[in-house]
Parts: sequence; structure tokens; C-alpha cells
Amino acid sequence: MRSIFIVMADPHMRERLAVLLRREIECVVLEAENPEVALNMLKDEQTSLVITDLFPPKGKGLELLREVPRLSPGTPTIVCIPEGSWEFGAKAMQSGAFSVVKAPYDLMEIAITAARGLQSHDLLVHRMHQGRKIRKSEGCHGIMGISPPMRKLFDFIYKVAADESATVLLQGETGTGKELVARAIHALGPRQGQNFVPVNCAAIPDDLLESELFGFVKGAFTGAVNSKMGRIQYASGGTLFLDEIGDMKQALQAKLLRVLQEREFEPLGAVQSVSVDVRIIAATHRDLEKAVEEGSFREDLFYRLSVLPLHIPPLRERRKDIDLLIQKFVQVFNRDRKIAFLGFDADALKALNSYPWPGNVRELENLVQRMAILHGGETAALKDLPQKYVVHLGHLQDRKTENRSFDTTEMPEMALLERGGIVDFNALVREFENRIILKALNTTGGNKKQAAELLSLNRTTLMEKLKKKQIDGLP
Ligand SMILES: Nc1ncnc2c1ncn2[C@@H]1O[C@H](COP(=O)(O)OP(=O)(O)OP(=O)(O)O)[C@@H](O)[C@H]1O
Ligand SMILES: [Mg+2]
Repeated sequence: MRSIFIVMADPHMRERLAVLLRREIECVVLEAENPEVALNMLKDEQTSLVITDLFPPKGKGLELLREVPRLSPGTPTIVCIPEGSWEFGAKAMQSGAFSVVKAPYDLMEIAITAARGLQSHDLLVHRMHQGRKIRKSEGCHGIMGISPPMRKLFDFIYKVAADESATVLLQGETGTGKELVARAIHALGPRQGQNFVPVNCAAIPDDLLESELFGFVKGAFTGAVNSKMGRIQYASGGTLFLDEIGDMKQALQAKLLRVLQEREFEPLGAVQSVSVDVRIIAATHRDLEKAVEEGSFREDLFYRLSVLPLHIPPLRERRKDIDLLIQKFVQVFNRDRKIAFLGFDADALKALNSYPWPGNVRELENLVQRMAILHGGETAALKDLPQKYVVHLGHLQDRKTENRSFDTTEMPEMALLERGGIVDFNALVREFENRIILKALNTTGGNKKQAAELLSLNRTTLMEKLKKKQIDGLP
């Protein structure tokens, strides 16, 4: 049921207006005799519309008008301006009033304006609900996706999140969103509000990782002048995210196994065990089963970790998500950088939709960011894309790009670098390599043996490179 809040000093006027509104519009009417009382009531009561007197001489009704959006977002306010205060009418509109009504008051006019105000409020509420629905169906806690595997993933996340301590193992190629998923599982479960502690096992040197994870007591080793709490203990009550677990050395794997089995461990140099209540989410881009077979990862730890195994599919296996992710990243960069990048034209989108995305969503995010910086205010076309996003289109596109110079100054990254932007060195080198290879292939009319000779490469090296880069179908 919609509600209208009347804030007026004159009790007769309030009463008459309330009776009229209840009769003409199906609504609940709330009343207050001044803005202070109204503000207090608004803290607890939701309202769809506010009708306030101006409250001269200071025009306190305008203060109320400015406070309403904070306490009740999207609620329109109608300001009634008494005789002798006309100058406040314009001020009220500037301060965000939905409408002003001037004395002598015609109550029916106020009721009609109120009905319009309610309509605008209804529309806003409808849009908000729609927005929520769209957002929910397109993603889960910041993870965007509409493809069937992603929808399945979202269901899994909700279920897993509800269990507060089961260990989760996330596997997936680099850039597929493993950390994003780990954070979602934490944030949607009963441990939300507690610590989420990420530890990147590949980024911390082996000898430091042990003390980082388990902590140490004073005097445990030379240099241990004070005790230090380990990250496992710091995560107690919350979630420990062991990223790149496949890179953990064997000795530590054994210690970690004990944490998983007994939920306790000893900090370095300690004689007493410490108990922890922690959910462990581990992630790796490595094939752990293979690592077990090869003997570099403990089998018992693998089974302990994979109570709830989850594979995040690479982007090329869920191409339905590409357009959505592009849209999302364009929106985010435009908002964050206050630019108006218009996205990609149809040919460029086609190329991006068929590219294999070895770096997955991270690569897509970086590309959109780069294009947004270089082409703010414009639409990026096929010719604006770095070569590697185009070559896989094959025969047709290769002809189109045949005459492109491989002068590096033409590469968009070079322009970015010139402006002091950050570029990916390896990607740049790869792209330069692509261009050289394409040039050679174009020169030899697609003859790989001759192209290899031109490049002083042996033929198998060139073939391997072509396979890796998925360059095929050349003339
Ligand atoms: N489905 C998605 N929706 C929105 N953003 C995503 C999605 N997947 C990944 N991202 C974004 O891509 C980037 C990489 O994601 P994340 O760090 O979670 O990947 P990762 O699998 O942990 O990669 P790595 O193995 O290299 O550490 C992040 O900026 C993340 O926000
Ligand atoms: Mg990661």
C-alpha cells in the first residue's frame, strides 16, 4: 500500500487534505505538524510521497525536502508555497521538489499533483525491481555470466556458501575468476563479516610461506624477536583462501594436511597447538590430478581439498558471456574514468567472439580497458584491435590486414606507452611476433616452409608457433 506523508502546521488543512487523499487515491496518510517531527518519523516509516508546507519565514520545509532523498530514496516531494513567499518556489524546484503548489490552495490540485508524484514513484520502484532482476539473472556477487555453465556455477556457489566449513577446490585456467568465486562463497555464507584471508602460495618464497601461514613464537629462529600470528589463525572464524596451492612445496603440504584433518597446528617454535575454525578455499590453474600422478602433489591432501571440487570453464567454452562481459567492463571503465567509450563495432565484436581468449576474463578486461583509454568517446573498430585478436579470423581477415605495416609505432600499445600508460610486455612481444610471421606468410603466399626460411627459423619451430597462436587458413 502506498503512503503519503503530509507535513503541515495547520491541523484543519492537514485533516481536509488527508480525507481527500484517502478518498481519491488508495493510500495510507501519515501526518506531522513540523519538519523536525517528520524527519524523526521518516527514520522508521517508509513513504511513497511527501507533501510539505514551506514553513516560512525560514523555509524549513526546504530542509526537509533536501533530507527526504537520503532517508527515503526516490520519494518525490511536493512543496506548498504560501502567499508572500513566491521567491521560495524556484528554490524548491532547484532543490529537487517534484512540484510546487502555490496558495491560495486548491486541495483538488494538490491531490492531482500527488497522484502524478505517486505515478513517478511507482515507475521508479518498478525500474529498481527490474534492475535487480536483471542483475540477479546476469551474475552472482559481481561474477557476470549468462551461459549455462556459469548459471550452474552460480547455483553451486549459493549451495556451497550455505555450508560454513566444507573445503572447496577451485580449478580453472588463469583469469577465469577463481578469486572472484572464492570471495563470493565467503561473502554469501555465514562467515561473511569475518576475515577473508588470501595467501598466494606462488608469490611468497617457500621459506617465508611457512611462517606466513603458521606464524611463529618469539625466538623460534634467529631474527624472530617477537611472536607473529600466522594467516591461518588470522582467518579463524572466516575463510582462508589458498591461491595457487599447486605451487606449495611438499613439506608444507604435510603441515597443511594436519590443519585440514584436525583443525589445529603449531606455530613455528611453539610447543602448544592452536585450534582454528576456518573454512579453506584453495585454487589452482594447474591440473592437480596430474600433479598427484607425477608425485609433486600429495594425494591425501588432494582428496582432503577436493571435498567440493569446482572447475571454472575457460571463456572460449562459454562464448555467450563475452558480449555481456564486454558491456559490463565498458560500463565500469566509463564510470570509473569518467569517459564515454562506446564499445566495439560489429566486426570487432565478431572477432572478439571467436578469439580463443587464453588469458580468459582477465585478458578481456585488460583489452576493454586499453581500448577504452585509446578510443574514449568513440567506437573501436576491427582495425583498432591488436593483431592477435584479428588473425584467428583466418583467410578473409588476413587478406584485409595484409597491407598493414608491421611498424611497431602503429600498435595501439605503443600509443598507450607514449602516454605513460601501463602495457603488457609479453603481450606486446607476442603481437610483434605475430606481425612478423604474418608478414612472412603473406610474402610467401602462405607457404610455411618458405616463410620459415625467410625468418631463419626451422620449419617445425614456425609450425609450433602457428599452432600455439592458432594462426591458420592463410592463403
Ligand atoms: N565472470 C566474471 N565477471 C566479471 N569479472 C570477472 C569474471 N571473471 C573474472 N573476472 C575479472 O577478471 C579478473 C581475473 O579474475 P580472478 O583474479 O578471479 O582470476 P583467477 O582465476 O584467480 O586468475 P589467476 O589464476 O591468474 O589468478 C579480475 O579482475 C576479475 O574481477
Ligand atoms: Mg587468482
